[in-house]
Amino acid sequence: MKSSHLVVATLVAGSTFGSIALAAKPAAEPVSPIVPAVVKNTKQVELGKKLFFDPRLSRSGFISCNSCHNLSMGGTDNLKTSIGHNWQKGPINAPTVLNSSLALAQFWDGRAKDLKAQAGGPIANPGEMAFTHELAVDVLKSIPQYVAEFKGAFGSETIDIGRVTDAIVAFLKTLTGRQPDFKLPILPPSTNATPRPVPFD
Ligand code: HEC
Repeated sequence: MKSSHLVVATLVAGSTFGSIALAAKPAAEPVSPIVPAVVKNTKQVELGKKLFFDPRLSRSGFISCNSCHNLSMGGTDNLKTSIGHNWQKGPINAPTVLNSSLALAQFWDGRAKDLKAQAGGPIANPGEMAFTHELAVDVLKSIPQYVAEFKGAFGSETIDIGRVTDAIVAFLKTLTGRQPDFKLPILPPSTNATPRPVPFD
């Protein structure tokens, strides 16, 4: 009897403490504010941005990351499924790259554990940019401006696929969108109360 009281008391104390801790720490809520990206290496970000927009990383010389993740269209192509090399119709919709660094994993099925694991894929994917990593790296090595920029961003002139993806990832991490306009509180469906506007800064 005594010990079961103790268990109940502990549970109550535990849950009260839990809700206080949650209230004091907004990040633990299901919807939390987007934290602005912190740029560690500006030159890597600038280089990654160029690579993201550069169609020379594709076999045809026409397709860049931006073809399917158009940053002026919310980071996507607004198509049901993307169009890749040789006008191939892809099997699946291109998700936005905005806020992709905040995702738990990459791709619809989560098969890439992070952006680094994802970023090299499209260059060599026959249905997307249809190039090879070796040829893409050779193209970059042949462009003196890129050689200089890799040196500036990484401290030496080496260009390899690891650095290419590191730079692209550094750029992707800056693509965190603005705060969503949650002007109204999210209420459970059963609540009949009229939502009051919540000040948002
Ligand atoms: C031909 C179109 C196409 C091109 C070019 C392309 N992508 Fe994608 N991208 C896709 C599609 C389609 C998916 C979803 C694939 C899946 O989930 O199986 C995707 C998924 C992604 C994701 C995962 C996002 C998420 O929320 O899961 C990232 C990040 C990404 N691409 C970045 C890039 C980068 C960087 C490049 C250039 C190196 C690139 N993409 C080139 C079509 C493309």
